[in-house]
Amino acid sequence: TFNKKALLPLVAAVSLAVASPLALAKTFKMALGDAAGGTQYELGSKFADLLKEKTDGKAAVDLFPNSQLGTEQDTVNNAAIGLLDFSVVAINNVTPFSPSVGLLTMPYVIQSADEAKLLTQGKVGQQLVENTIRDAGVRIIGWAYSGFRVLTNSKRPVKSPEDLKGLVIRVPRNEIMISSYQAWGVNPTPMAWSETFTGLQQGVVDGQDNPYITIHAMKFDEVQKYVTNIRYIFSLEPLIISESVFQQQSPEMQQAILAASKEATEHSFNYLQATEQKIRDELAAKGMVFTDPANGEKEWMEKVTTAVWPKYYASIGGKEKLDAALEVLGR
Ligand code: MLT
Repeated sequence: TFNKKALLPLVAAVSLAVASPLALAKTFKMALGDAAGGTQYELGSKFADLLKEKTDGKAAVDLFPNSQLGTEQDTVNNAAIGLLDFSVVAINNVTPFSPSVGLLTMPYVIQSADEAKLLTQGKVGQQLVENTIRDAGVRIIGWAYSGFRVLTNSKRPVKSPEDLKGLVIRVPRNEIMISSYQAWGVNPTPMAWSETFTGLQQGVVDGQDNPYITIHAMKFDEVQKYVTNIRYIFSLEPLIISESVFQQQSPEMQQAILAASKEATEHSFNYLQATEQKIRDELAAKGMVFTDPANGEKEWMEKVTTAVWPKYYASIGGKEKLDAALEVLGR
């Protein structure tokens, strides 16, 4: 005979599963500006693995490296309007939409990977996350720690800012970085990241700056020869999610997303420590020539801290924001 009672727990379990928002399989899209093999990919793919694990395979993330889904700045825009779920971009490409994150690209504010971690994972970082939701419609949920941006060019060793004279340097469309080169005496050429390899290859521009791991992932060693580690900006690359997409998720999915991105961030920090020197050695083995900046970075630093910082106090929310960050860093 048919025993209705025996079926009850099963019915309850099935309806729970249907009601549970995690029950539905979901594939998210994630844009990456860099080629596979760099710090963006390392963060993104770790996040995808962890999210899958935490949702028992209910959520997958497809990665689209190499700016396939548009320039980094386009992907911030697309996420803001809900056309894209996730993107990993350099922080300098978020600044035009959320000026207060310019704090993180103020030259020589961050002077080590530990300092980068301290600022992004503490109170300062939390404030920037909130400002970016408000100003740009995207939520920063994790960070790739990519190392200091180093200067490369195809023409000659560069020691001092004076050596830049006559070189055409590509910069992102980022006011603080443009002003930095102007303080060093040249007028740089703003160009989207996705066009930079070709720009260097065709000699439209002679040089650029980005971290060692990024230079390696993008095969810039094929079109650049000289490297100077001017350490002016520590490259931070946030993992962003469209705020509207985030708000559409169930609390369980939101939790899983936040937990996965936190762990992926930790992974990114460790990856940098384990990899950066090895990659630098590989670039040397491929024929890149390393030049030390004159007087440590002193000359480079003095020029930008006096000329660039004051110009951007207003856009980052006031001088007190920079002072607060420097205080956190014990300076
Ligand atoms: C840029 O130079 O536009 C970016 O820092 C590149 C990147 O995202 O790796």
